[in-house]
Amino acid sequence: MNTIVAEFAATPFNTAAPLWQPGEDDTFECVQVRDETHDVKTFVFKAVPARQFRYLPGQFITLELEIDGEITNRCYTLSSTPTRPDCVSITVKRVPGGKVSNWLHDNLKPGSRVSVLGPAGEFSFALYPQRPYLFLSGGSGITPLMSMSRALTDLAQPTDIVFVHSSRSPSDIIFRHEVVLLARQHPGFRQVQVCQGTAGEPEWSGLTGYLDRAALERSVPDFKERTVFCCGPGPYMAGVRKLLEESGFDMAHYHEESFNFGELTAAAGVEPAPACEHVSCESAGFKVRFSRTGDEITVAAGQTVLAAAQASGLRLPASCSQGLCGTCKSKLVEGQVDMQHSGGIRKREIDQGMFLPCCSKPLSDLVIDR
Ligand code: FES
Repeated sequence: MNTIVAEFAATPFNTAAPLWQPGEDDTFECVQVRDETHDVKTFVFKAVPARQFRYLPGQFITLELEIDGEITNRCYTLSSTPTRPDCVSITVKRVPGGKVSNWLHDNLKPGSRVSVLGPAGEFSFALYPQRPYLFLSGGSGITPLMSMSRALTDLAQPTDIVFVHSSRSPSDIIFRHEVVLLARQHPGFRQVQVCQGTAGEPEWSGLTGYLDRAALERSVPDFKERTVFCCGPGPYMAGVRKLLEESGFDMAHYHEESFNFGELTAAAGVEPAPACEHVSCESAGFKVRFSRTGDEITVAAGQTVLAAAQASGLRLPASCSQGLCGTCKSKLVEGQVDMQHSGGIRKREIDQGMFLPCCSKPLSDLVIDR
């Protein structure tokens, strides 16, 4: 074997690696950190032990990080594509004052290991395959749409995608050159960049200002015939929803992703926690005691532990309220619950007595280690 062939044979391809098993495999090792813009980095991971990743383009993972002695969970959409299954990546913007994004930017290096839950989520073209697509993203909301774009173009299927991305300025455009390249190489892929201002780039050839109805009609005249996937900051998505609704777009073909799970919960019509005076606490409730703080609450029939705690003014860590992200994970010291989770906890954690208060209803009085 000559040297080049020997080196190639020693590269970390591992096509014989078994598939990633969410719920069992949960350790990622960072293998590369890439600067995307002045405040955005991509972190590339491999599985430990080696695994082939399978997920839907657009899905997210939850990182479980120990920061300042505290376990903190945070959801990030995968920016990678499952068509390149040896590694996955997340792309993270440094948010001023943001605990997790700053920690990742400052601490995560090749060789660092993190604990991961997921993948999860239903924000994926793979679940809505019928119509041409319109991808709309703002800022770092580009990540799930980049995953979908990479997957669709990698598969070399006939595609019809228009990708409209909004940024503050040209230097803030994430994946700028790659998106241009995809549009050059794939006839069914068209990209439109919108920047609020052109700071420092007088030759800017994209749109300037905000994505409004006139700009959308001009750039994507057939947008009403497309399935829209939208991801970005809350105000951006609210603006897009308003624009589409006022244009007569059929919102049955609109899908959005946000990690402001409070908003998602409200939008999904999940009932807010009932206040205690509206339910018969004495007759129907179970007592829940928090062993470290000594707080005690009553959980009404049909109520989750988290909802009851929030209604009583207690603050428990929580994010999705849907059993997805793992943020509320707690140790159940005594008692039994009916837990209907959506992948936010591993089987071995359940075996060790952990549970998710956001999706658990008591079946007896409880004692929780908090
Ligand atoms: Fe997300 Fe409970 S808050 S799993």
